[in-house]
Amino acid sequence: MKYKGIIFDLDGVICFTDKYHYQAWKSLADEIGVYFDETINNRLRGVSRMASLDIILERSEKDYTPEEKEQMAARKNERYRTLLEQMSPADLSAEVRETLDDLRAKGILLAIGSSSKNAKLILGRIGLGDYFDAISDGTNITHSKPHPEVFLKGAQFLGLDPEDCLVVEDALAGIDAAVAGGFDGAGLGEAATHPKVTWAMKTFSDLKQICE
Ligand code: BG6
Ligand code: MG
Repeated sequence: MKYKGIIFDLDGVICFTDKYHYQAWKSLADEIGVYFDETINNRLRGVSRMASLDIILERSEKDYTPEEKEQMAARKNERYRTLLEQMSPADLSAEVRETLDDLRAKGILLAIGSSSKNAKLILGRIGLGDYFDAISDGTNITHSKPHPEVFLKGAQFLGLDPEDCLVVEDALAGIDAAVAGGFDGAGLGEAATHPKVTWAMKTFSDLKQICE
């Protein structure tokens, strides 16, 4: 077996929270009169909350103080968390669940490596609160992707070296982070087009063949 562990990004890999991020950021952008659309939202994939706000504020004519920015990010997060209350185990696809179970049955350790500070809340909502062997998320890092910290901590929590782990990502910044940390990267969606990806995946269940 090539990989002893797999570290999964959460948003866009295990489940889909983009629409809730979009709605919450859109409501904040409308409130402060800044243009925001789904294309700009795509740039927020894998990016931390404060870095996301900075991207949105690129179109603002007004400069905000760090305190004002903190307040705006907190308002967005409150709305986002209210939207997350709609999520349930029905938001976990059968394909993802079966694939995770298959990988676990092969003896591979499974971890989350997410920039989100809401990762544990989301995992609980979709019924995976106690599923993973380790969770590295926005609450235990000081540098966001493309910095490798979140994945390095994930490997450390599993007790494994980066070269024994595969990182699964949907964001280009996430593959950059994996490569910077010395991990193989498996890309889904846009991340499958990253030139340094080890595995370009079409669908989540491709992991069963990759880990044969
Ligand atoms: C990542 C998302 O998983 O988490 C980003 O892809 C998001 O879009 C980031 O900005 C931070 O999330 P949160 O939940 O801490 O605001
Ligand atoms: Mg993602």
